Amino acid sequence: MPDARLAPIFKDLVVAIKQLVEKHQITPEEYRAAVGFLSEAGEAGEIPLLFDVFLEALVVDVNSRRSRGTPVNVLGPYYLEGAPFIERGRLVSEDERGDRLVVTGIVRDVEGDPISGALLDFWQADAQGRYSGFDPGPAEMNLRGRLRSQRDGSYQLHTVRPSAYTIPHDGPTGRILLALGQHPWRPAHIHLKASHEGYKPIITQVYLADSEYLDSDAANAVRDDLIRPVTPTGSGYSIDFDVLLEPEPTPAG
Ligand code: BEZ
Ligand code: FE
Repeated sequence: MPDARLAPIFKDLVVAIKQLVEKHQITPEEYRAAVGFLSEAGEAGEIPLLFDVFLEALVVDVNSRRSRGTPVNVLGPYYLEGAPFIERGRLVSEDERGDRLVVTGIVRDVEGDPISGALLDFWQADAQGRYSGFDPGPAEMNLRGRLRSQRDGSYQLHTVRPSAYTIPHDGPTGRILLALGQHPWRPAHIHLKASHEGYKPIITQVYLADSEYLDSDAANAVRDDLIRPVTPTGSGYSIDFDVLLEPEPTPAG
């Protein structure tokens, strides 16, 4: 964050919290409980989770209101840099458990012209709702992979259906969700970063239309225009998800 924005934003943050203290007549015990809660979240490594669950969707919305490309969506806490490049779109190994799913689409610019060589970086939970690198079980970098769109802008991703999953709910974030009457489930989705020189990179997710919890996502991040039908193919399922990239704004001056 540029220093010029840090001071005014931090001041407003403190003003907003002071208003909240006044409005709710926060007691010293409640104040200390709040400080203890944040410390506990930090010790549990849950600060990214806590903030992503309660705030990231709003930050994304605020920054994408004028976008003409594919709607952006939350990154979440489970992205890992350096996913392997995959051959022929094969994200799964033969022995991966779960229903087979093929995601196909065309990467285009906002005029509708295909973009070849766009970098697509996918990550998803497995059929048991587990993320490699975070949950016990999956091998390193499992169900994480990068590929480039073909000359005609098309791509194919051969994978398994991700399952809906619970975000960790045995720690501080889960306790807050429970206190709010909110379950900890996220609906089934696949994450995607898409980029190409000359275009604005995007981070988004595609949501499976037949998943549970689309209407009650714990991260409040589902957007209707990111939900896609899941079509049975006989051997599995398919989803069509085109990706639209906006040109990079030219620097002013
Ligand atoms: C996710 O989709 O991976 C995610 C997003 C926000 C909070 C927790 C998880
Ligand atoms: Fe996710």
